[in-house]
This record gives sequence, C-alpha cells and structure tokens, in this order.
Amino acid sequence: MAKVFVFDHPLIQHKLTYIRDKNTGTKEFRELVDEVGTLMAFEITRDMPLQDIEVETPVQETTSKVLAGKKLGLVPILRAGIGMVDGILKLIPAAKVGHVGLYRDPKTLKPVEYYVKLPSDVEERDFIVIDPMLATGGSAIEAINSLKTRGAKHIKFMCLIAAPEGVEALKEAHPDVDIYIAALDEKLNDHGYIVPGLGDAGDRLFGTK
Ligand code: PRP
Ligand code: URA
Repeated sequence: MAKVFVFDHPLIQHKLTYIRDKNTGTKEFRELVDEVGTLMAFEITRDMPLQDIEVETPVQETTSKVLAGKKLGLVPILRAGIGMVDGILKLIPAAKVGHVGLYRDPKTLKPVEYYVKLPSDVEERDFIVIDPMLATGGSAIEAINSLKTRGAKHIKFMCLIAAPEGVEALKEAHPDVDIYIAALDEKLNDHGYIVPGLGDAGDRLFGTK
C-alpha cells in the first residue's frame, strides 16, 4: 500500500502560510513555491542509495560516500507543476525532466491530457511526478497512468497541498506510488477546490486570470 508522508518541517509550514495568503503576489508566490520545492526535495531524497568511494583528504586517504548514481526523472504536470521544478533541480541537478500536460475540465473536473514528453530511457529511471495540488486526484492518477503506459516502474508523487479525497483516490489507483505532501487540508468544495488550499495554483504562479 502507498505510504503518505506529510512534511511538517517548520520552514516548509512557514513558507506554505505565505503561499496560501491571497495577498501574496505572483513574484513572491513563485519564489516561495520554488523554495518549498527545494526543501521538499531534501526530504524526498532521503532514501537515495549511496556507495563507498576512496577519497584523499589533506590528512589521509579514507572511504566516504557518494550517491550511487541512480537515474532520476522529474515530471511536472503542466502548468502548475513547473513552479516546483527549478527548486528541486537545485538539489538534484542531474535529473532529467519530462512533462505531462493536463488540464482539469471545469465542468466534469476530469483531466484532459494534451502533451506528454518523457526521457527516452523511461524504464531505467525513478520518477517524481510533481504538482502543487492534489484535489480530486484525477490529474495525478492520469499523469501516473501515462508514465506507466510508457514503461515507468518506480514513481513517487509530490505536491504542496492535498485534499483527503485526492489522497484516497491516488492510493487506490496507484498503491505502489508513495505520496509526499507539505499539508493535508480539510476537504474539497463544490467546485473541486481544496479548502482552505491556496486557490488556483496555475493562475497564481503565472499571473493569469
Ligand atoms: C490544477 C492543479 C492540478 C489539478 C489538480 O491544474 O495544478 O494539476 O488542478 O486537480 P485534480 O486533483 O482534481 O485533478 P489545472 O487543471 O487548473 O491546470 P493548470 O495547472 O494548467 O492551471
Ligand atoms: N487546482 C488548483 O489549482 N487548486 C485547487 O484547489 C484544486 C485544483
């Protein structure tokens, strides 16, 4: 069964408060989402495998650890997922970046896929699918379907804010995908928005609306 990790680190929670605030403008919103992306990447990479190498310090030779060179792929769900990518790449710059374009039909709330481009060696990579919002879960489920159809085997999902409904739906659809979130909110409203949430993540990141 999928594990759910809620990152309650004080720095993440502090920044998330200003991300939620409707008075936070586009520039600051973007910077904060980027910063939380970095902080979450620090936590999400905790289980990365290490290997020993020999290194010579100014004092003597010793055995020390480096990353074992596992291939990583980041897959932001367009549009809003893009806002977290640079922050994550600051910590794992060698990761390749794929994209899945989905929008939620405002009437049915069902995801509509319009773009998919992934690294060519999909089967060899561990993927992190990224979206600030997990609301009904439809977009995340569809994006992960897309990756699996193309051969991806190891996938994690990360988001800023999740609704309990989205977490349950994602766990049910993809029990092999662990979920990493900064905050688990109360519920969805009648329009499928997360309450209290942060509003429309894409519009707030890109200044549209
Ligand atoms: C938002 C958000 C997620 C999706 C979450 O995208 O960024 O992708 O909604 O909702 P769900 O869990 O109910 O599927 P949106 O459809 O607004 O597209 P955008 O990022 O292009 O604005
Ligand atoms: N998409 C958003 O951007 N915000 C929500 O609250 C739900 C879906």
